[in-house]
Amino acid sequence: MNIQAIRQDFPILNRQINGKPLIYFDNAATSQKPYSVIDAITNYYQYHNGNIHRAIHTLSSEATELFEKSREKISKFINAKSPNEIIFTRGTTEAINLVAYSLGCDTLGSDDEVLISLMEHHSNIVPWEIIAKCRGFTVKYGHVNKDGTLDYQDFMSKITKKTKICCLSHVSNVTGVINDVKCIAKVAHDNGALMLIDGAQSVPHMKVDVQDLNVDFLAFSGHKMLGPTGVGVLYGKKEALQKMTPFQGGGEMIKDVSFSADHCVVSWNELPWKFEAGTPDIAGVIGLGAAIDYLVALGMDNVFNHEKDLTQYATECLKKCRDITLYGPTDLSQKCGILPFCLRGFSSHETAALFNEYGIALRSGYHCAQPLHQILNLPSSARASFYIYNTKAEIDRFIEIIEELNS
Ligand code: ALA
Repeated sequence: MNIQAIRQDFPILNRQINGKPLIYFDNAATSQKPYSVIDAITNYYQYHNGNIHRAIHTLSSEATELFEKSREKISKFINAKSPNEIIFTRGTTEAINLVAYSLGCDTLGSDDEVLISLMEHHSNIVPWEIIAKCRGFTVKYGHVNKDGTLDYQDFMSKITKKTKICCLSHVSNVTGVINDVKCIAKVAHDNGALMLIDGAQSVPHMKVDVQDLNVDFLAFSGHKMLGPTGVGVLYGKKEALQKMTPFQGGGEMIKDVSFSADHCVVSWNELPWKFEAGTPDIAGVIGLGAAIDYLVALGMDNVFNHEKDLTQYATECLKKCRDITLYGPTDLSQKCGILPFCLRGFSSHETAALFNEYGIALRSGYHCAQPLHQILNLPSSARASFYIYNTKAEIDRFIEIIEELNS
C-alpha cells in the first residue's frame, strides 16, 4: 500500500493540533474518513435525497438504488450468502441489542443460558444482562487469562445443551487479541447453540468471511471502517433471522397491518426489511458503501499486514522504553493493531492529555470494557490503535516524546 498516497485522501490528516501535525492513534474508537466517503454523503444530499422504498418519484428510486447497492457491497465484503442477510443498524451496539431483544424476548427462558466472555465490550454484556432480568435466563461468563487471551478451555467447558447462544468479540477493543471464533462456533453448533461475534474491531482491519467462520451473527460499525457514524450492520444467517421477531416496530418492517373485528393483525415484511423499522440513516449507509469500495481497492490482506507491521514495530520500540508497561499478549501473531499501555507516574487520562499537547490522539480509560480491566488489574489504560494511514515515522515521534518525558 502506498501510505503517502492514502494519506492524501484524508483531509483531516492535514490538521495541526496544539501547533503540531495531528498523529491519529485512536482508530479503535473511530476512524478518519476519506474524501470519497465525504463526497458520497454530500452527493446524496445534493442530488438524490428522497426517502427509500416509499415513493414512485425519481429521487426516491435513486435513493433506494444507492441504499440497496451498499447492502450488496457489504454482503460481498463479508461473503454473506445474500444481501437479505444484511440488516442496517445504528452500529455494533444496536446490532447486538437487536439479537439480544429478539432472541431473548422470544425464545429464551429460565432453563436457558447465554455464554459471554469477560473480555467483551459492555455492549456485548449489558443487553444480555437487561433481558436476562426480564426473562429469567442465566448469563455465564468465560474466563480470560492474565495476558488478555481467552481461556478457551474454560469457555468451551461452559458450552452445554443449555447454552442457546455464545457471544464473543472477534478482536478485543482493549488488547487487540484475535479470538478463534471459528473453533468456538463449531463447539457452539455441536451443542445446538448459536454464535454471535462482535466484529467492531475485526471487520475494519482484516478479511472476515462469515461463511468460512460459520457464525450465525456478526455485528459491526461503519464509523470504525472509514464510514460515517450512526450506521452499522447486523449480519444474520437467513435461517436464524427468519425465526426471530422484530426488535422494533414501525414503518418499513411490516407487510400488513389491519383490523379484524376488534383486534389488530400485523404481519412482517421480508428479510432484511423486517428488522429495519423507520427511516434509516440513508446517507450513512451510502457513505458506508463508499468506505467499503475504498477498503476493497486496498485489499483487506494488505490492510491487515500494514497494521501488523506497525504493531510489531511499535511493540519493539515501546519495550525498550523505561516507564512504559505494555498489556496484552506477547504473541503478536494473534493480535491486531491495538496497544494498551501505562506510563509510570501518570494516570491514563493524564497520559492522553499529555500526548494531546504534542498533537497525538490516544484513548484513555477502560474503553467500555471494565471486566477486562479488572482481570488485567488496571483501573484504566492508555491505548494507541492504528489504521491504514498511520506510519512508522508517527510511531518514531511517539517514542521520541516518551523518551523526552523520561529524560
Ligand atoms: N468502543 C470504542 C472503543 O473501544 C468506542 O474505543
